[in-house]
Amino acid sequence: MNTEPKLLDVQHVTVEFHTGNIFSGTRMVAVNDISFSLERDKPEIYTLAGESGSGKTTLSRLLLRDLDPTTGNVFFEGRNLATIRKRSDFKEFMKKVQPVFQNPFETFSPLRHVDTYLFETAINFGMAPNQRAAAPIVDEALHNVGLSLDEVAKRYPHELSGGQIQRVSVARALIPHPRLILADEPVSMVDASLRMEIVNLFRKLRDEQQVSVIYLTHDLPTAYYITDRIAIMLRGYVVESAPVEAVLDNPLHPYSQLLKASIPKPQPTEKAAWAAHIDLGATEVKEYGRVGCKLRAAVRM
Ligand SMILES: Nc1ncnc2c1ncn2[C@@H]1O[C@H](COP(=O)(O)OP(=O)(O)O)[C@@H](O)[C@H]1O
Ligand SMILES: [Mg+2]
Repeated sequence: MNTEPKLLDVQHVTVEFHTGNIFSGTRMVAVNDISFSLERDKPEIYTLAGESGSGKTTLSRLLLRDLDPTTGNVFFEGRNLATIRKRSDFKEFMKKVQPVFQNPFETFSPLRHVDTYLFETAINFGMAPNQRAAAPIVDEALHNVGLSLDEVAKRYPHELSGGQIQRVSVARALIPHPRLILADEPVSMVDASLRMEIVNLFRKLRDEQQVSVIYLTHDLPTAYYITDRIAIMLRGYVVESAPVEAVLDNPLHPYSQLLKASIPKPQPTEKAAWAAHIDLGATEVKEYGRVGCKLRAAVRM
């Protein structure tokens, strides 16, 4: 039996939010008993796909140790994230698990040159003692996303295109040489025509840098295109999870079937069809909830 710890092991995590005051309030379960794991020596792209409000960002906050689960545990390389208390331990963890956020224009201040973030990241993570020593590290990270330091040096965010700036944020995430990238809706603010360019980077990172990627998205075409395994989320639950071909060819859960039906047939020559933005049919979801089906999963991994 393989006793090596997993890269990431998410065990029955649930997150509840309480709103209101002590007299009256509501309890909201944003993430409901989710489990999955990623192998240490088998880099992959793992997608959690779901419409807005399905719990993706809450899950990503858990995995970044920005939030503790109400119940359940998350282990990274065998260590329970709940035991990370010291600043130095948290920094070591953050070197290995890096986020890429939805809106690069929020990540980068309009008043600062984008390269200053890259230099700061390199210095803060102890990759280099100063800017001069950090330059080759920053340049290498930018090359991994098809850019160079010459191209982005002394440029403000508005001087770069949406695709370029999101590639810079992927480069920033690469600087500490992470094992895992958590990308929460990384292409939703990027023009449809540029989405493939960004998500293809994740494939390249998997294949050339042995980086695993958790891709959280409501954009099914890009998810199906790049992912190895996919988990379909609905209201905090994973309703189905499997290798992507299985979910595409033979979705078991009614919600997954509905999602499949909402995607235009991709033609290999028509990248635009893949890149088209698909909204995950909010009305049908409501319909599905109303019939009162149990939302429990058809998991077959
Ligand atoms: N801090 C919070 N307090 C209360 N409710 C929250 C909080 N964060 C998220 N939620 C709720 O949890 C659910 C899942 O939200 P979220 O994880 O942001 O979903 P997604 O990223 O898939 O859109 C939503 O109903 C949202 O309103
Ligand atoms: Mg979100």
